[in-house]
Amino acid sequence: MTTLTTSSSISFREISSEPGVSHLLAAGEMVRLKTHLIPDPPYYFGNRITGQLGGLIKEQNPDRVYLVTNQMLLDLYGAELQKSFPENNLNVTVITIEDTEETKTFKTLEHLCETLVGQNVSKASLVIGFGGGCLTNIVGLASAMIFRGIRYVEIPTTLMGVTDSSLSNKQAVNGRHGKNQFGVYYGPVFLFGDTQFLMSEPVGGKKSAIVEGIKNGWISDPSLVDYFEAKLQTDLKDYTEQDITELSLKIILSKLEILKADPTEKKLGMILEYGHTFGHAMEFITKGAITHGMAVAKGMCIAAELGNRLGYISREVVDRHYRIFGETLGLDLNIPANVSVEEMLHVMVSDNKKTLGGTKFVLLERVGKCLNPDGDYQVKVPAEIVKAILDEYKQR
Ligand SMILES: NC(=O)c1ccc[n+]([C@@H]2O[C@H](COP(=O)([O-])OP(=O)(O)OC[C@H]3O[C@@H](n4cnc5c(N)ncnc54)[C@H](O)[C@@H]3O)[C@@H](O)[C@H]2O)c1
Repeated sequence: MTTLTTSSSISFREISSEPGVSHLLAAGEMVRLKTHLIPDPPYYFGNRITGQLGGLIKEQNPDRVYLVTNQMLLDLYGAELQKSFPENNLNVTVITIEDTEETKTFKTLEHLCETLVGQNVSKASLVIGFGGGCLTNIVGLASAMIFRGIRYVEIPTTLMGVTDSSLSNKQAVNGRHGKNQFGVYYGPVFLFGDTQFLMSEPVGGKKSAIVEGIKNGWISDPSLVDYFEAKLQTDLKDYTEQDITELSLKIILSKLEILKADPTEKKLGMILEYGHTFGHAMEFITKGAITHGMAVAKGMCIAAELGNRLGYISREVVDRHYRIFGETLGLDLNIPANVSVEEMLHVMVSDNKKTLGGTKFVLLERVGKCLNPDGDYQVKVPAEIVKAILDEYKQR
């Protein structure tokens, strides 16, 4: 680990995802992580590090800077966010947009693009997206499209954004037929995660992200499942900024380990989709009424049942899914009453992993390892077995 300083106002330590790295950071301590994405934006991360943001943006030498967020986040954090801008002579234009799952559409995207162009954005400008995954997905896609690509800085403000959605370079909006159907891969010039912004996020959103963290344990790291089993004995609302920082860094590093092996998520990286085929279907049918993480928790339990039915994992591993997501995290694991098995099957066929003659699923071989028959982490399962599992699950 080296301490690097690029100017008098910017100081950070470089750390990697290798085992044994300390996950404890002092307030104000900024680390730089290698994301292993293609392209691989550096990820500046820490707690109470926003005083260094202006310097990092200044290094990019933009002609104009645009900060895109929503009104609530602007009210909460606008002053803190812009504190380091004047000393770096940055004049920032603020734009607010709506950022719900219903408004993550072409209409909002077009509105943002036209607003930025109307506000004289140029090829030398820099756009900051400050918000949750919905908002940063829209802002990232707008940045990719304006003049075929202008510089973008992503500042996630949810635990999901800090630990998961920002680590993908995926920018998208929803379509009439499914989530995230229209988008591109487009990397920000850097990612900036300050856990102070996470303290105002409601517990429900945090749980969503923790679900993805536990998923990283199921698919690649048994010790992470153990960590969450112990850590979640403390009520999430009692977590300090230090707790959230440590937990975030653990999830981030677990994802980066996977990305390091497969930055494009086409081979090993596919395992990150564990529980997602079922989860996406429920999330889409309920139009976002259940969040991504809640849907994926249900999806992982269904995938565990499927894996058990196919003879891959034991009943004990399935029950551990119910224990950690249901009892410890307190999530409702049922398929929502207004979601039918037929609808789920229909939506799953148009999921981005669809294949002819059956749907493909990521399944566990054991805790910490996914099945990989014939070098494919997606296991093709006959439609009648999927239907039978869903019918039984719906009745539970
Ligand atoms: N790009 C990817 O690979 C990827 C991966 C996972 C999820 N996603 C996308 O991310 C979206 C979900 O993102 P999310 O979980 O961040 O939720 P979100 O963006 O939907 O935000 C949820 C709510 O929390 C509010 N909020 C955000 N930050 C807050 C804060 N600090 N304090 C208080 N409230 C705050 C938002 O305004 C919003 O009302 C989905 O659209 C999903 O498709 C993308």
